Amino acid sequence: MITLPAEFFRTPYAFYEQLRSAGPVHRIRLRTGVQAWLVVDYDAAKEALRHPGIRKNPYSPAGVRARHAAAGDGRVIPANQRLSHHLLYADPPEHSRLRKLVTPAFAPARMAALAPRITAIADELLDGIDRAVDATGRVDLLAEYAFPLPITVICELLGVPVEDRARFRDWSAAVVDTPMATPQRMVSATDAIVDYFDRLVALRHTKAHGDDLISHLLTVTDDDGDRLGHDELISMAFLILVAGHETTVNLIGNTVLTLLTDPPRYRALHNDPDAVAPLVEEMLRYNGPVNVATMRYTAAPITLGGTKIPPGELVLVALASANRDERHFADPAAFHPDRSSNHLAFGHGIHFCLGAGLARLEARIALTRLVGRYPELRLAVDDDDLRWRESILIRGLQDLPVDLAGAA
Ligand code: HEM
Repeated sequence: MITLPAEFFRTPYAFYEQLRSAGPVHRIRLRTGVQAWLVVDYDAAKEALRHPGIRKNPYSPAGVRARHAAAGDGRVIPANQRLSHHLLYADPPEHSRLRKLVTPAFAPARMAALAPRITAIADELLDGIDRAVDATGRVDLLAEYAFPLPITVICELLGVPVEDRARFRDWSAAVVDTPMATPQRMVSATDAIVDYFDRLVALRHTKAHGDDLISHLLTVTDDDGDRLGHDELISMAFLILVAGHETTVNLIGNTVLTLLTDPPRYRALHNDPDAVAPLVEEMLRYNGPVNVATMRYTAAPITLGGTKIPPGELVLVALASANRDERHFADPAAFHPDRSSNHLAFGHGIHFCLGAGLARLEARIALTRLVGRYPELRLAVDDDDLRWRESILIRGLQDLPVDLAGAA
């Protein structure tokens, strides 16, 4: 049985390389005591993400049994179950039904139309940084830029007041950061989210519908007249809120970090806006924000990457490892924006990220505006002093101190 090494959160890649050289699938015990199968190579990861014997719904009878068995001490995900009716907890045919209803809200044209507003939000944040920067010239770019940008976009998209974004940050951090280790925090956060969205939806019922996502989800029907139920609607809003910002914050943060360790590459973007898109794409592969995909379990005996897994066991797919698989990517530890990549940073199969287009757009705009404003930006800490989040799901920094003195 393998356990995570102490340096895992700071740098998981050497550990993953070691595991890949020993085989594609490993039995692992997490710090919480939970036991699972960890899938580390590219082909096995793809196979796992579309395997009919591997399922998602943690509240189905088989899902509940698998979670009890894996936790050993009988603990299950401590969340408000009213938030469980969303895509990442659904299997076909339920998943197909939900996805069909929700997909039009993320149509490429709808997302592209957000570009001017995202640009304006980025510029407003940079103006705020200009005004607030103190004599030292030091700023936490994660807190002042990478975090507020996606959360503001998501709030505007959902149609929730931007003043509430600090609450959303706390709630979604409680949900994402090892919830099994802090069950009370998870329960309070999900109760508060249910309460918040219940009230918001009630308000939408009494007021005229706007162009926001919640209004859209409230009224959407498919060809058969099917529509989302109330708990499905608040569950989707919850999923979009959490999935849509925890990830994008860290894509922006990780990208800026990588670029600032190579200042000429960062500065070069200033005169070459076309270089931004391939750079973001390679960043998703090289140090993307999702380390391990969300939890799955076996609903039948299966063989994955040559390993037999009994039914009722948890399966974790390490996307960050698959994206560094030497059998799939040449020189995988090198950052090469010119490689044509088919990374798994947005997942694969029926749960492929619904917000991938929006995430790419936000990251590209965030980077373009930042380099445009501060072509001489510098990292204000050494690599060893960077503080990484201790979450198995999210790969991202706790803060990103940069030096703005003389950067404009
Ligand atoms: C699903 C990554 C941004 C909404 C996923 C999955 C991954 C992922 C890996 C699949 C998880 C699994 O199979 O266990 C990312 C990354 C992002 C990002 C790396 C940013 C860089 C967004 C944004 C939104 C979003 C901005 C929405 C506004 C969703 C939804 C799903 C999902 C709704 C569930 C899809 C389904 O189950 O059918 N994302 N995501 N994501 N993502 Fe994203």
